[in-house]
Amino acid sequence: MEKSSVFLRTTMQLMRLMWFIVAGFSLLVAGGFASNDEPLRFNARGEMLFPEHYREWVWLSSGLGMSYFPSTHENQNPNFDNVFVSPAAYRAFMSTGTWPNATVFMLEIRASRNRGSINLAGHYQGDLQDVEAHVKKADGHWAFYPFGNGNKPAAAIPHGADCYSCHEQHGAVDTTFVQFYPTLLNVAREKKTLTEK
Ligand code: HEC
Repeated sequence: MEKSSVFLRTTMQLMRLMWFIVAGFSLLVAGGFASNDEPLRFNARGEMLFPEHYREWVWLSSGLGMSYFPSTHENQNPNFDNVFVSPAAYRAFMSTGTWPNATVFMLEIRASRNRGSINLAGHYQGDLQDVEAHVKKADGHWAFYPFGNGNKPAAAIPHGADCYSCHEQHGAVDTTFVQFYPTLLNVAREKKTLTEK
């Protein structure tokens, strides 16, 4: 084979390889943005669309059997609650200690299990029970959206429900329970946005 044709073929192969690398990288970046910082969306009826990728957001904490009312007996199989927040809001909070508009929290409640496979003591997470959103809307007001055990659009819980009063009275930063989210607590203290409650 002639030298020049070998050179040509090698160059073509190199170019094709570079094209694959560039295309692959762009897909990765596009996919990353689409799945992570998905925008807060509503339908024409004002219902919030279920954020399909909330499990790829920032995990803040998992409460186990938390209860806000006096009780005489300890629940033997208490639910877990997992709290996630949208990534852009998390980044804003880390630098300001406050929540920007379009912040979305997802509270995911799961049953707990205590015996299965090799586990003999302690609890691990089981089936999904309920998913609820807490959203700071474009006008700066907060609203709650109950998705239950599904992923259909949800209407806001009306103001006056106890969700609003408890969060307003006891949430340590802007109606959210930062006092129970360990990685945020010190940030809020440092930025002086925490109300000890
Ligand atoms: C008596 C107080 C109380 C009431 C009533 C209440 N919550 Fe909460 N909520 C909490 C606490 C405490 C947490 C923190 C949970 C944790 O640390 O895992 C929380 C966390 C949340 C979160 C995670 C984001 C955040 O704001 O910190 C959502 C979403 C949420 N609650 C939704 C609801 C909805 C919807 C209702 C009404 C149906 C409701 N809550 C009623 C006390 C309450």
